[in-house]
Amino acid sequence: GAPVKVNISKIELGQQIVVEWRGQPVFVSHRSPEALALLDETDSIVADPQSAASNQPEYVDGKTRAIKPEFLVVMGVCTHLGCSPLFKPEVAAADMGADWKGGYFCPCHGSHYDMSGRVHKGQPAPLNLPVPPYSYETDDVIVIG
Ligand code: FES
Repeated sequence: GAPVKVNISKIELGQQIVVEWRGQPVFVSHRSPEALALLDETDSIVADPQSAASNQPEYVDGKTRAIKPEFLVVMGVCTHLGCSPLFKPEVAAADMGADWKGGYFCPCHGSHYDMSGRVHKGQPAPLNLPVPPYSYETDDVIVIG
């Protein structure tokens, strides 16, 4: 598949867009400073906090999982059986459980991920959401692939 260019300048803070790359969804979310700060709290409830076993390029940090922390780019494909997780950024949404700080929820078998796509411990999904290869063409444009 060809690389895909994405203009990220219109993604509002706290929102995400979904783009297609190689026939699969890619989530691009604009994280707030508050959402990034919560990653320190979710370190203790995720299975692979440094993404050591998870699929991501070497140039992204294991925790923010991004080149620029404010923009997360992850495959929208659950690492269990490939469903597309739902974006649930609301902190402490009542139906998501006491540990919930916001992130992604897979409707197929209930896997929870944090706002970096890091899977919580004890979920059906074995790994964090994969980060595809990408780069910044300009401050406003990323190229996936
Ligand atoms: Fe996501 Fe099974 S496919 S939990």
